[in-house]
Amino acid sequence: MIMEKTQFLHSRQTDQPLDILILAAGLGTRMKSARAKVLHKIGGQPLITHVGRTARSLSPRKIYVIVGHQAAEVESAVTEELGGLAEFVIQAQQRGTGDAVRSARRYLENSDSIVVVLSGDVPLLKAETLRSFIDEHAQSGAACSILSVRLENPAGYGRVVRDGNDQFARIVEHKDASEGERQIKEINSGIYCFTSNKLFAALARVKPANEQGEYYLTDVPEILLADGEKINVYLHHDPREVYGVNTRAELAEFENLLRRNTVRKLMIDSGVTFIDPSHAYISAEAEIGRDCVIYPDVSIEGRTSVGESCEIRSGTRISNSTIGDNVTVKDHCVIVDSTIESNCSVGPFAHLRMNARMAEKSVVGNFVEMKKSRLGRGSKSMHLTYLGDATIGERTNIGAGTITCNYDGKNKHETIIEDDVKIGSDTMLVAPVRIGKGSVTAAGSVVTEDVPPDSLVAGVPAVVKKRLFERNDEKKG
Ligand code: UD1
Ligand code: CA
Repeated sequence: MIMEKTQFLHSRQTDQPLDILILAAGLGTRMKSARAKVLHKIGGQPLITHVGRTARSLSPRKIYVIVGHQAAEVESAVTEELGGLAEFVIQAQQRGTGDAVRSARRYLENSDSIVVVLSGDVPLLKAETLRSFIDEHAQSGAACSILSVRLENPAGYGRVVRDGNDQFARIVEHKDASEGERQIKEINSGIYCFTSNKLFAALARVKPANEQGEYYLTDVPEILLADGEKINVYLHHDPREVYGVNTRAELAEFENLLRRNTVRKLMIDSGVTFIDPSHAYISAEAEIGRDCVIYPDVSIEGRTSVGESCEIRSGTRISNSTIGDNVTVKDHCVIVDSTIESNCSVGPFAHLRMNARMAEKSVVGNFVEMKKSRLGRGSKSMHLTYLGDATIGERTNIGAGTITCNYDGKNKHETIIEDDVKIGSDTMLVAPVRIGKGSVTAAGSVVTEDVPPDSLVAGVPAVVKKRLFERNDEKKG
């Protein structure tokens, strides 16, 4: 809320709308991949999604994404995050960063906006950095601002060349730089603010007269300077924010960095214990409550939420799931798109998927799979069981080796097991089937027909052997 207010003030201050342009058309040859670079993931999300999210937090009017390689896939990744805020512009041939920006000319040339240019492969840039960069640009009255950093090893980057008065002179690409220029440690991050109409007027004059035969966006500031415009360089202190991903090795480093930040935040801000923080794989979107203890080699993916005082043991993966308070997840469980309420215990070696739901104080033990099923309050399924399309009541016990035979080869069918039932070991429940409240199935039963309440069934197929007790209302009737 507070952030939004600041942004509102910001746009009021400048009286100029903000448009963001993300360059994402390149393949990224050095990834050695058939996939476009911006689709490679860190923290379980494509690089372009990280950039898109940062862009959105600045409340721009529109976010233009320049796409080329695997345009359809890039578009769907971006749309998933940004919806209608994103507008896609195809750059059919990748003829350089200048050409990429120019492909958005028809949208932006007469927009009278501040155009912020970002790269789709720079995922760790912070929104607050961008915000102060844009603020300074707006206040400086410059036609163009360049975000620069100083690098100990600037090889490969464009260098910011300054004149005798320490003022901006031009950007020179590494490949085009002289030996002397290559000694410069201040580099162009590839992040810029432009006044829209001046940007496109200058772009029309960029020529591919360089080592790579490309249209360089980096020629624009020099052209504007020659026209007498002001160019502002914003030297940022933290180079790690503007590193781009170029190789798989860098992708792994970024993954590590992101992961370390997430785990650290959970320890410091949320009071979560990690037995070994260097072996914890937690998505940046996950929430974990205080006094949880996370053992090594646990993966928590997507929008998972874990309550307080839970213990999650080694080798477990939890994805897009909700877990209550005081839950124990023993070793090597897979829990996907599922819900576990408070005071439950799961595993070891359990598999919950497709909206499996465990109500309070229920227990699932080893080698139990739950799919689209609900286990009621206080119920237990301890060993070697498949529960598919099943609804199980309260205080019910599912014996070892029980299977809900939910699939007849064509369709899936439901099993309903009511409260206070005891399913004997190795029972086959041939769905659709209902087991009435208080009933018992003997070991090895194959249940093909509904079982009335309070009955014992046995055999293949199972038949009622006796009524266990009569209810008061039945006696009266
Ligand atoms: C660019 C800058 C360099 C800067 C560096 C920072 C230029 C000429 N150079 O170099 O000064 O130090 O970024 O990382 O701009 N792209 C397109 N279409 C194209 C070409 C590129 O969309 O035709 C996209 C790429 O997919 C990528 C971004 O633009 O997301 C940057 O392109 P890249 O080729 O990586 O530029 P660099 O050589 O790194
Ligand atoms: Ca790059």
